[in-house]
Amino acid sequence: MGMKRMMAAGIVVCMGVQLFCSCGKEQPKEERQVHMGVAYYDQSDTYINTLVACLKDEIQDYEEDNVETALLLRSAAGSQRIQNDQVKELIDAGCNVLCVNLVDRADPSEIIDLARENDVPIIFFNREPVAEDLRQWDRLYYVGAVAAQSGIMQGELAVELIGSNPSIDRNKDGKIQYVVLEGEAGHQDAIIRTENVVDTMKQNGIEIEKLGNGMANWNRAQAQNQMLQMISQNQNKIELVLANNDDMALGAIDAYEKLNYTESALPVFLGIDGTDVGLEAVRDQKLAGTVYNDKEGQAEAMAELAIALVTGEGMEKIEFENERYIYLPYFKVTQREAEKLLKRRQSSPAIFSVHCQLSSQKAESNQGEYNF
Ligand code: GAL
Ligand code: CA
Repeated sequence: MGMKRMMAAGIVVCMGVQLFCSCGKEQPKEERQVHMGVAYYDQSDTYINTLVACLKDEIQDYEEDNVETALLLRSAAGSQRIQNDQVKELIDAGCNVLCVNLVDRADPSEIIDLARENDVPIIFFNREPVAEDLRQWDRLYYVGAVAAQSGIMQGELAVELIGSNPSIDRNKDGKIQYVVLEGEAGHQDAIIRTENVVDTMKQNGIEIEKLGNGMANWNRAQAQNQMLQMISQNQNKIELVLANNDDMALGAIDAYEKLNYTESALPVFLGIDGTDVGLEAVRDQKLAGTVYNDKEGQAEAMAELAIALVTGEGMEKIEFENERYIYLPYFKVTQREAEKLLKRRQSSPAIFSVHCQLSSQKAESNQGEYNF
């Protein structure tokens, strides 16, 4: 986000505080005032931080449509109890729509009860509640992406790479020795990505041998530690590192750098997300590839839905799956796409909407198509 935008976003947040203070517990009198409360699980998560920054930009853009918007942010530092209190605080401050990135996706009941009592709709995002919970009330929605798709795409990237670079099988035993760096236990994007990447490789006839896995909670430093352990247990046998996200893939690279491995002795690394640092690593050929988790598209869908829920206008234009779900597609990123994505961001630093059709792939969006 450019400096100007960052300042603008800051002003929106400050304005929000003033507005909220003045309206207290009362519902806004005017339905064109959108007071959004955003509660997210942890401020140290790279991907979530950028997704929330995109959401700020998106909601602010509605100011041009004669809608007054304000946004309050709360990060829960990984505690569901803190998040429950924060949601109460956001409702008390006068929010008329909530975007919630649950800490524990299996434990939304207290938040749902609070919202229902106050008739404040909730858009859950990124950490998908179980289906029964989303049916607890009819003003609950989810915006995210289909976890299996990212695992399959990461698997396809691996298959393509292994097919075109026989040298990845360093010990020439006809098998690819791999390790996995996993996100949090119980997160849909950890379990499902891991299952699907492995299945996709097998289904494509790649012989694989798992040497180990480490849980690193999406975190670069934790991934570095896990990777250091796996390297020490397996000497130079690891040929492929599959990470559930870019930060952990980068942590794995950090581990090898720390041990002063030469480039030619490194395994292949694959991530998921397409964060700025992730894209730069793909461009620089440190990461062999990643899978783009469309934060711009998700933020846009959340803003559109939030505005529709508050103003009562535009709901009919939104396409849902199973009435309450909006899923944005993932797409694969190798060096060529990474270069394009980074260039595009440079020319429009505030936000670059990439839920688009990359010329090499058909990634369909429910918001229209853009070409690079
Ligand atoms: C995933 C993302 C991770 C992490 C996680 C948090 O979708 O790939 O990097 O941000 O969400 O819930
Ligand atoms: Ca091998």
